Amino acid sequence: MESPEFFRDPYPLLAALRERGPVQQVRSGPHGATWLVTGWAEARTALAEPRLSKDTTRYFADKPSKRNLAPAVSATMLATDPPDHTRLRRLAVKAFTPAAVARLEPRVAEIADGLLDRMADGGDSADLVEDFAVPLPIEVIGDLLGVPREDRPALRRWSNDLFAAGAPDSIDAASHAISDYMTELIAKKRAEGTGADLLTELIAARDEGDRLSEFELVSLAVLLVVAGHETTTNLIGNGALALLRDDALRTRLRQDPALIPDAVEELLRYDSPITTATFRYAAEPLTLGGAEIAAGDVVLVSPGAANRDPARFPDPDTVTPGRSAGHLSFGHGPHHCLGAPLARLEARIAFRALLTRFPGLRLAVPPGELPWRHTRLMRGLSHLPVTWSAQV
Ligand code: HEM
Repeated sequence: MESPEFFRDPYPLLAALRERGPVQQVRSGPHGATWLVTGWAEARTALAEPRLSKDTTRYFADKPSKRNLAPAVSATMLATDPPDHTRLRRLAVKAFTPAAVARLEPRVAEIADGLLDRMADGGDSADLVEDFAVPLPIEVIGDLLGVPREDRPALRRWSNDLFAAGAPDSIDAASHAISDYMTELIAKKRAEGTGADLLTELIAARDEGDRLSEFELVSLAVLLVVAGHETTTNLIGNGALALLRDDALRTRLRQDPALIPDAVEELLRYDSPITTATFRYAAEPLTLGGAEIAAGDVVLVSPGAANRDPARFPDPDTVTPGRSAGHLSFGHGPHHCLGAPLARLEARIAFRALLTRFPGLRLAVPPGELPWRHTRLMRGLSHLPVTWSAQV
């Protein structure tokens, strides 16, 4: 699962594993087995199963580790169980309701248009990842949290490093850098006290109600930056690639933009930004998809594999908007992605603007030559070279 072929196209291997059974042991070791859940029904069950814990601090407590991850990065709400999880999530949830997110629409559209203006001014070719899919979510989450513009490139670098495969030292270093940065930014915003942004609101919620420790506040800020940006970049990048490979769908969406929300759901299903795995471990023994999972075993749930389970989505390797209900790209259950409404909004605006502004857009290299990022959990392109002409 770490070969260049796997990064380029993980789906044949995931399908082969699923054909052997929906829950397969992929590793054994002195600290228990690791299982990969590839069947849709089993993945959905696992994501909401209370015996499967996300509390990584507890999991790693009795294991030898050379890792030195910053606690604010390793112990976010994503890595806690109820009741802590419920309390942490409740504080952030208000900012991400569909109504709250809908208010961001004009600003997201303005950012998308600005980036596309710059692309158009640059000639007749661009890198859709570097010039569009990367900066859009960074600018959106940066604005939302009130991160100064000049600091955003560093945030991007750190969160990129956090997901790079096979570079433990730079992952650890990035985790400390981003956590130190957020600690300082919070101190600065608290001292100023005048910001009109989500971080200032969260600081006020903490200082008034004392329902959030200082550590939890830093950790929430880090999570919002990290969870919200590479994932959305990959939705826009992977989705744009699928659209560029499907002339008929591009034409349909351009003629009827009302179909774009359904297309976004199908693009999420077809090439999930988090493809291979989300982490859980068995706090108690359980049986799942016929597998006997022991307490302490790691259970990796694969949204990418589940989304292409033919038992749920017939002919799963094709892009067919309108049949994506139940895809697991945003997870399921108590940890279901908090930022899903924002990610959906960004993708809808991004694809609509791209299709309208660049009707003659096409790939500048054959799909087989595109460079995929070497990341273990995520799936995304490092570059997407495109070119365009005035004609459709
Ligand atoms: C959780 C995917 C965008 C914030 C999750 C989970 C998934 C996911 C699969 C659950 C992981 C698990 O159960 O183990 C995605 C994808 C995105 C995206 C595919 C983009 C296309 C965002 C954005 C934000 C965000 C834009 C915020 C600005 C979060 C948070 C959690 C989360 C805070 C943790 C929720 C919890 O533990 O209760 N995301 N996400 N995500 N996501 Fe997203």
